[in-house]
Amino acid sequence: MNKFSRIGFIFAAAGSAVGLGNIWKFPYITGEYGGGAFVLVYLLCIVFIGLVVFIAESYLGQASEANVSSTFIKMSKTKNPNWKYAGFMVFAGLFILAFYSVVLGWILNYIIVSFGNLPNSAQEAGNSFNTLISEKIGLQILLHSIVALITIFIVLKGVKDGIEKINLILMPLLGIIMFGLLAYALTLDSFSKSIEFMFRADWSKIDENALLAALGQAFFTLSLGIGTIMTYSASLPQKNNFIKSSLYVAIVDTTIAIVAGLIIFSFLFAAGAKSSAGPGLVFISLPVIFEQWGTLGNIIAVAFFSALLFAGITSAVSMIEPVLMLFIERFNMTRKKAVATCGSIFYIFGIIALLSLSSSYKESLTFFGKNAFDWMDFLTSSISMPIAAIITCIFLGFFVDKEKIKNKFTQHVPVAIFNIWYVLVKYIVPLAVIILLLNKLGIIK
Ligand code: TRP
Repeated sequence: MNKFSRIGFIFAAAGSAVGLGNIWKFPYITGEYGGGAFVLVYLLCIVFIGLVVFIAESYLGQASEANVSSTFIKMSKTKNPNWKYAGFMVFAGLFILAFYSVVLGWILNYIIVSFGNLPNSAQEAGNSFNTLISEKIGLQILLHSIVALITIFIVLKGVKDGIEKINLILMPLLGIIMFGLLAYALTLDSFSKSIEFMFRADWSKIDENALLAALGQAFFTLSLGIGTIMTYSASLPQKNNFIKSSLYVAIVDTTIAIVAGLIIFSFLFAAGAKSSAGPGLVFISLPVIFEQWGTLGNIIAVAFFSALLFAGITSAVSMIEPVLMLFIERFNMTRKKAVATCGSIFYIFGIIALLSLSSSYKESLTFFGKNAFDWMDFLTSSISMPIAAIITCIFLGFFVDKEKIKNKFTQHVPVAIFNIWYVLVKYIVPLAVIILLLNKLGIIK
């Protein structure tokens, strides 16, 4: 099997982690929950929950060197074949990818728009975004098709020549663009206001909803709960320190999220705009601000949306790879056939997702008050991913030989670190995630 290089793994895992979750979602939920205090809660969730599960997935992948289904069977004390059902988690990847690809299509559209005339009022910006998602079905299908083809083309080439290579190109580019945008934000008077907003804790907006949003975000941003990290780690050479790599990835991911927040809030505050614009923040609030900056604004707009696209593409490939590996190994498929099968599934569901937002098909694609797009998001982010995380933790805590895990950990870290991680993985994290899940299901408030 073609394995990642050490640096290739870190880039690929960081490429998976850094995505729309960092540059689009993190800033807007931080805005909605009032800034600093939310950031602090989020950081705690990353360290004590996200990183713990990340290390868990990475350990399982590296130790088993197999697809998610076989990993669970192989690593269980009794080698019970029923553990293969834990492989269900990889399918969530196809449904996340379905709507993620649609959003990446919108971003592609905004890159193109950024070369020309940007909207000059909030009203106009809102209208053009709404027209795109509710009326322009053909255009959206075209954009979604382009993103789908790029994704398929990369994964067709495999882990080393496809995924590793694209990450080694796009991640440095993303880093350069973010650095450039940060440098520009630094020249604005509003930068200090942005710092204050992100780092001064105002606890008044922190309620249980904020805690759960922070926890959910920590999972999504680290690409946990669908077997991505397990699958990538299966291609991590045995001698490499999976704990150190996990730590690097968490640091890169968190840094990009914070930097994205600082940039976006500097831009918003420079224009006197509100920090709590919600999901429309990057598609509606930002374009108007870029417009006010003239040609420089166009350049910044192209750079910003390209950064989003690059971050998103490297995440997209990581959503499909776990299913591919499972199909290839367990169903003896060729990579080509696996890509054709999985590619068609996410492509078709992507079209269903975008149609469910359009004014013509909205009604027929809304079920129990939620449209197909939101259902795919809900069933994956709120149901499948937390369940998968709980299973992974309980599996490690109760069904895998503790000594075996300990041996591998202590090759890299002192036993005290292992002990802390073990208690977190066995008891604390599953408990926290069960609470999250019950809340998402509306069982507890
Ligand atoms: N982490 C990515 C983001 O922040 C999204 C992502 C990629 C993902 N792979 C994943 C989320 C696997 C959940 C599971 O945008």
